[in-house]
Amino acid sequence: MTAGELIYEGKAKKVFHSDVPHVVIVEFKDDATAFNGEKKGQITNKGAVNAVMSAKIFQVLESEGIATHFREQLDTRRLSVDWLEMIPLEVVVRNRVAGSLEKRIGLKEGSVLEQAVTELYLKNDSLGDPLLNDDHIRVLRVVDSALLEQMRKQSSRINTILQHFFEQRNLILVDFKLEFGLRQGQLVLGDEISPDTSRLWDRTTLKKMDKDRFRRDLGSVEEAYNEVLERVLS
Ligand code: TMP
Repeated sequence: MTAGELIYEGKAKKVFHSDVPHVVIVEFKDDATAFNGEKKGQITNKGAVNAVMSAKIFQVLESEGIATHFREQLDTRRLSVDWLEMIPLEVVVRNRVAGSLEKRIGLKEGSVLEQAVTELYLKNDSLGDPLLNDDHIRVLRVVDSALLEQMRKQSSRINTILQHFFEQRNLILVDFKLEFGLRQGQLVLGDEISPDTSRLWDRTTLKKMDKDRFRRDLGSVEEAYNEVLERVLS
């Protein structure tokens, strides 16, 4: 498969046309940003880790009956995926308190949430990706209530599958972010699942093994990403 014209360049990925209709090529970059792009840097080999890890996770989810955009891993940092009409929402699922939830509700980082907390954010950089409630979503008409319900259900199923997957690899899935799109009217999981878009802690030591090492200058960022990939592929 050959890459054609660049369609879009985001903070962590580039998307190219391919020579197959309705299929695009995603290239994962080493560039890292945080706090809505205010902090910038590079994490050596991040693009490869995120591409290979996402490919593996999408395959796991497909094997459990979850529709994803994944088609093929082309090389170490490029995947071919189905083109989706993306829904401009980020779905965050949380099993423990961390990050913005800690700031919002004041519970201690690491507190276990008896029931997973799901949040929806509007994908809009100039507004700083605001948190939305169901009424906000209704007035914005981003998705109708049936599709919203389907996104919530699918996210919850993905959480159950991934919690188990990471637990087997001695990792706690603290939280993660999903993006969905439509393929011929059907809800399909898109984007990526990686240490950029999830929080993963070692189950024994509670060491942070994700992008929080970059966000909070904790050091050993590359080592953590490589270690996560090694466990994901084990
Ligand atoms: P938060 O605690 O900062 O709201 O992040 C929740 C989860 O969502 C965490 O696993 C990181 C992920 N995330 C993204 O993938 N992209 C983003 O832009 C943000 C803010 C968070």
